[in-house]
Parts: sequence; structure tokens; C-alpha cells
Amino acid sequence: MSSQASAIPTIEIETARLILRAPTFADVPEMAALANDSAVALMTGRLPFPYGENDALTFVHYQDEARRAGKELAFAIESKEGKAFLGCIGFRLPKPDAAEIGYWLGRRHWGRGLATEAARALIDHGFDTLPIKTVIGECRVINEPSRRVMEKCGLRYINSGLRAAPARGGALPIDRFCLSRADWVSFKAWQPAIVRESSGSTELAV
Ligand SMILES: CC(C)(COP(=O)(O)OP(=O)(O)OC[C@H]1O[C@@H](n2cnc3c(N)ncnc32)[C@H](O)[C@@H]1OP(=O)(O)O)[C@@H](O)C(=O)NCCC(=O)NCCS
Repeated sequence: MSSQASAIPTIEIETARLILRAPTFADVPEMAALANDSAVALMTGRLPFPYGENDALTFVHYQDEARRAGKELAFAIESKEGKAFLGCIGFRLPKPDAAEIGYWLGRRHWGRGLATEAARALIDHGFDTLPIKTVIGECRVINEPSRRVMEKCGLRYINSGLRAAPARGGALPIDRFCLSRADWVSFKAWQPAIVRESSGSTELAV
């Protein structure tokens, strides 16, 4: 099994409506504009608030270094139509056999299934290319939309606890979720069954 400490190549992932690609300096103004929203930043453990262009610049630098170090794999979420920057999604790779998913979208892009579409694509990519056994996810206990995104991606609730959230100035109560490789393989192999009208009679012979 290969080590995740080696650099992860930059790639693009295309879905029905989205391109997931490496964040660039050209994303900085829109990234700062969308993340500088308490409804976005305060639901995450990592985004500072208020969030300015310097924070976005730091992130673009940091995620490239983290990718080269094999520690993180971050993507900008871009709309195929209009090529707009919508938000970010990525994996942290805290240990060789697990990837922790995280994501955020600008508020005006919520409610169209885009986070779920991006997360499903990233999870598929993770299990396809990384030697991970599980995808894990955490969200604030009050974060129903994020909980729902994880459920729609097949992650199951595991337990609750506290997580250090330096950008929030302390620890936050969170729910933990997990999708095992075995369950992902099973879901992906789930084929539709053929249902046809039965010709046999259900009446009992007397
Ligand atoms: C979490 C987030 C990425 C979801 O983005 P999105 O593109 O709107 O998500 P989707 O449309 O794919 O799915 C959202 C689901 O949550 C549901 N939802 C939204 N608000 C809800 C609420 N208040 N209570 C319950 N469910 C809610 C939606 O109905 C949808 O579920 P459905 O398809 O079963 O109807 C977005 O809200 C966000 O960026 N939030 C701020 C940052 C954040 O929370 N990041 C995650 C940190 S763990």
C-alpha cells in the first residue's frame, strides 16, 4: 500500500454541473467575498471570520504546500456553466487509512444539491485513488444542511463530541460520520432490479 506522505498530483474532477480543480490566486477575490459570511464561516472549524483576501491568499498557498506534503487535497468548486467560483471542498489526510471531508459553498449557491454533487465526486475519487479505508466527516451539531450532505453521500452517524476549532476560539460540539470502503463498494455496485407483473394467480384453489 502506498504512503500518503508523498505528493498528491493536481487533477480536475468533472461532474454533471461542476468542475473541482486546484484553487488559484484568481479565486482570491470571490473566495474572500463568499467566505466573509458568518453563515458560512461560523459553521466551519477552520475559516476565520471576518474573512479577507489575505486569508484567501494564505489558503491558496497553504493548500498547495499541504498537497505536496500529502496531507490535504483541496479543490475549488467551479460551475461548468459560467465558470464561477462557488466554494471549496477537500480531504484532510490525518492518517494513512482515513480521509476527512470538508466543504463550504457561498450562500447564494446553497440549496441546489451542489455540495452533495461535489462531495460524491470527491468521495469516489478518494476511494478510487487513495489507500484509505474510510471517509470521515464532522459537523457542528446545529449544522443540519451539512449533516444531510453527509447522509446523502452514504456517511453514517458514529457519535458526538467536542472538537478543537481554533478559528472559533475554542472547542465545538460536533457530530461524527463515517463511510467505510466496504459500504461504498456495496453502494456503487447497487444495481436496479427488474420488476415485472407476475402471471401467476394469487387466488387459492379450493
Ligand atoms: C453545508 C453546505 C455546503 C450545503 O450546501 P448545499 O449545496 O446547499 O447542499 P445540498 O443542496 O447538496 O444539500 C443540503 C441538504 O440539506 C437540507 N437542508 C438545508 N437546510 C436545512 C435545515 N435547516 N434543516 C434540515 N435540512 C436542511 C436540504 O434540504 C438538502 O437536503 P435534501 O436534498 O434532502 O432536501 C452549505 O450549507 C454551506 O456551505 N454551509 C456553510 C459551511 C458549512 O456548513 N460547511 C460544512 C462544515 S461541516
